[in-house]
Amino acid sequence: MRGGTVPDLPLLPAGHNTARSALTCEYRCGNSCSHEAPNRSLNPYFGDVVQRALSRRGVFKGGAVLALAAGGATLAASPAAAAPAVTSGGRPSRGLDFEPVAPNTADAVTIPADYAQQVVIRWGDPVLAGAPRFDAHSQSAKAQARQFGYNADYMALLDLPRRRGHQLLVVNHEYTNEEIMFFGYVPATPTREQVEIAWAAHGLTVLVVRADDCSGRLWPVTGDALNRRITATTPIRFTGPAAGSDLLKTNADPTGRTVLGTLNNCGGGITPWGTVLTGEENFNQYFGNAVAVTDPVAKARLARYGLPTGASTRKWERFDDRFDIGKEPNEPNRFGWVVEIDPYDPTSTPRKRTALGRFKHEAAEPRLTRDGRVALYMGDDERFDYLYKYVSTKTYKKGDSRAAREHNLTLLDEGTLYVAKFTGDSPAAEIDGTGRLPSDGEFDGSGEWIPLATGNVSHVAGMTAEEVYVFTRLAADKAGATKMDRPEDVEPHPTTGRVYVALTNNSDRGAAGKVGPDEANPRIGNKHGHILELEERRSDAASTSFSWRLMLVCGDPEDPSTYFAGFDKLKVSPISCPDNVAFDPHGNLWIATDGSALGSNDGLFVVPVKGSERGHVKQFLTVPKAAETCGPIITEDRILVAAQHPGEVTGATAENPASHWPDGPGNIPRPSVVTVWKDKRR
Ligand code: FEO
Ligand code: CA
Ligand code: CA
Repeated sequence: MRGGTVPDLPLLPAGHNTARSALTCEYRCGNSCSHEAPNRSLNPYFGDVVQRALSRRGVFKGGAVLALAAGGATLAASPAAAAPAVTSGGRPSRGLDFEPVAPNTADAVTIPADYAQQVVIRWGDPVLAGAPRFDAHSQSAKAQARQFGYNADYMALLDLPRRRGHQLLVVNHEYTNEEIMFFGYVPATPTREQVEIAWAAHGLTVLVVRADDCSGRLWPVTGDALNRRITATTPIRFTGPAAGSDLLKTNADPTGRTVLGTLNNCGGGITPWGTVLTGEENFNQYFGNAVAVTDPVAKARLARYGLPTGASTRKWERFDDRFDIGKEPNEPNRFGWVVEIDPYDPTSTPRKRTALGRFKHEAAEPRLTRDGRVALYMGDDERFDYLYKYVSTKTYKKGDSRAAREHNLTLLDEGTLYVAKFTGDSPAAEIDGTGRLPSDGEFDGSGEWIPLATGNVSHVAGMTAEEVYVFTRLAADKAGATKMDRPEDVEPHPTTGRVYVALTNNSDRGAAGKVGPDEANPRIGNKHGHILELEERRSDAASTSFSWRLMLVCGDPEDPSTYFAGFDKLKVSPISCPDNVAFDPHGNLWIATDGSALGSNDGLFVVPVKGSERGHVKQFLTVPKAAETCGPIITEDRILVAAQHPGEVTGATAENPASHWPDGPGNIPRPSVVTVWKDKRR
């Protein structure tokens, strides 16, 4: 559809959207936001610094933090929400000259005036040669394995140097929504065909796309030799220090070195050597029957990763024993990893990199250290879980020679895995030792990267290195890491190297019997999330200490507990629940949201991180009903987003869908990739 703001669309009644759909919770995160957070370790908290955090820089004044916890004003109730668009108070930063869209609940992708959009590819569209056209009433596993998968999340766009106008689009397919995929679906008794379609709809797609010369349109090149589908049954190799461990061995794989498939692929990253990393997130939801495990150590490990004791939601264990923990107790250990994929070689075997640890991986975003090694920043998306970093032992080799490529493909197999500990109110100069701040502005505290393991050496008392990698959450508990408000994407700035950490929300923060606030997670009942800005010591990604400060504390700007890097709150767009983040070519931070608690659809926002416009949050688009904004990719030519799980509403079915996007009335919703561009004709 053509662009345009939607100022007059009715907003949901106050509070309508503040409770997440039960269906969303079940499928997206295995009820991670409603079940007991599986982190019950007793790490120390910064009770003595909480008050300093609340008063620092006037961010939180007059008990505002507690006021938010008690009320949490919704956007619909806010006068600020009625404003059709937020206007800039000054000259826009480069690339940000657009009028923000208004919050809305339209079943559409809504974009600024003067922009245009196109759906690039939908769930079920053909990818591989011979794939049939999508037919919602005649789906098959054989067809799905050659078609675009469900629920696109992270996307990477890579160059194809010898093919002008063509690029490679790599897309994660995080999970499936069976109730709105299949007509006649009965959750208690799924058919084998439905289960096998779901297996084929997971994983990734590698797709050649062709750019239009005169617009931002992108066209899929169906059947291209580079196109590929990776699914829940594709053979994948374990590499690194835990490969071959007894903890990874099963009846089907007594070597512990090959696993079938990748599941719940959420965020990701692109390496300097042109491979794609994809994080396996809520893998726990695919396994059933943990109740059969009686050994107390094994039970504790399963519980820490949230494995269900009863049947799984999708009942896959009825169709393949590997999803039955009672029959294959090590199979869950084979998920929850970062997978490296070479998109330029469709015959290559993806690798699960055990040196990067096992948890609910969101993304793995790289930055080179000063001496040329590679650092990866990684979040574990669970309430009260942790922020991690990996630093390779060997250095990156430039160039695309075969030798350089083979060398670089070993960089994620040997290094040190760290977890973050945040401390409040300690000037950066103290840890730098130079007596000066490492960058402009004021920091809220310092932090350290605590080593967990290096190669085959464990740094955690009472755990072997293999145990550290396979049960990383337990190792981080022992190390005294800081419990965070759901670390999602973590993105180093392409030029400054500062690291931006999206913390989606944590409704349990400070609840009765739960962990209270600390300076890095300062808000009780954190419904709207926040973003931290980290500066590594000497700006070196290899450092073991850093400074940090609050960049954004999200919500309705009328809410006194929000903070927009000091920018005038009268001029910013409301924003809630930051998830995927990415930088544009000008160094502005783009933020995709998931689960907005402000009564409007989720969206894509942009904020400059430096200069006079730092903190000026502007909403660029909204996604359809009940969808989550994913991707995103921002180039000079276009903005790509994935609209994940449109119509994911409790009680919705294929017969009675809550969304008809993108095909319109009479159709079931289809998660899709959308390109948006500045329409020069207008
Ligand atoms: Fe799949 Fe935490 O987002
Ligand atoms: Ca995410
Ligand atoms: Ca990212």
